[in-house]
Amino acid sequence: MDIRVLRPSDIPHVQQTNITNLPENYFLKYYLYHAMSWPQLSYVAVDISSPPKTPYDPPKIVGYVLAKMEEEPADGVQHGHITSLSVMRTHRRLGLAEKLMRQSARAMYESFGANYISLHVRVSNKAALALYRDTLGFHVIGTEDKYYADGEDAFSMRMDLDYFRDEDDSSDDEEEEQDTVGKDEGAEVGSAGKAGEDGVATIRKKEKKKKVKVGRGLGVGELVERNESTVGA
Ligand SMILES: CC(C)(COP(=O)(O)OP(=O)(O)OC[C@H]1O[C@@H](n2cnc3c(N)ncnc32)[C@H](O)[C@@H]1OP(=O)(O)O)[C@@H](O)C(=O)NCCC(=O)NCCS
Repeated sequence: MDIRVLRPSDIPHVQQTNITNLPENYFLKYYLYHAMSWPQLSYVAVDISSPPKTPYDPPKIVGYVLAKMEEEPADGVQHGHITSLSVMRTHRRLGLAEKLMRQSARAMYESFGANYISLHVRVSNKAALALYRDTLGFHVIGTEDKYYADGEDAFSMRMDLDYFRDEDDSSDDEEEEQDTVGKDEGAEVGSAGKAGEDGVATIRKKEKKKKVKVGRGLGVGELVERNESTVGA
């Protein structure tokens, strides 16, 4: 089984999977809108046990998650949203939905700095509720009356993505610790490297990773390409 990012060419097959599994269906252009606007966030599960015989054979898509970033979050907090998730009956209880959701959650955090994920689920959908609440750690934040076209209510659910931030922080700490070890070794051979004396090592320890401009962003490209032979002529 291959879990990979959704490609535009998968869309007709994903749409077919959606129609087979759920009453909430969407126009092709809505899938395309997801794939074009947030290409990192939607994933498919492809059964590769019987590989295609010709390059024209379609991939055997047995599950998908269609996800996006909330464009105008009512609370002003950057977050992702699960538009649709389903797995073909023949391939359920293999952990595919869990994997699809986790991939999308990570991409929301890493690519867009999402703070949490939101979704809606039918109050009667026991399988999806178990997946979201018990396996993934979502919690119910409210009920929306008659949310679905047939009049059924929806639970509005949410999962914080703090654990990715915690993961990042602890790996930063590990790097900083290694940094500090290097500093200590340097301190023995010169007063400039002494930790604590001028406070340099202490400050470095507290610094978090910062994004910095590199290459052309700093004008380096222009410097490299300048024709030195014309200088001073
Ligand atoms: C809900 C759905 C996506 C789950 O897909 P899946 O690939 O079978 O789920 P997973 O194998 O990843 O299950 C992970 C966990 O979710 C829970 N779960 C999944 N299906 C369940 C079921 N039928 N009953 C109870 N718990 C279930 C279990 O805790 C499971 O862990 P376990 O197998 O170790 O017990 C799938 O049943 C589906 O496509 N249903 C129809 C479409 C749908 O309802 N989509 C959600 C719309 S909001």
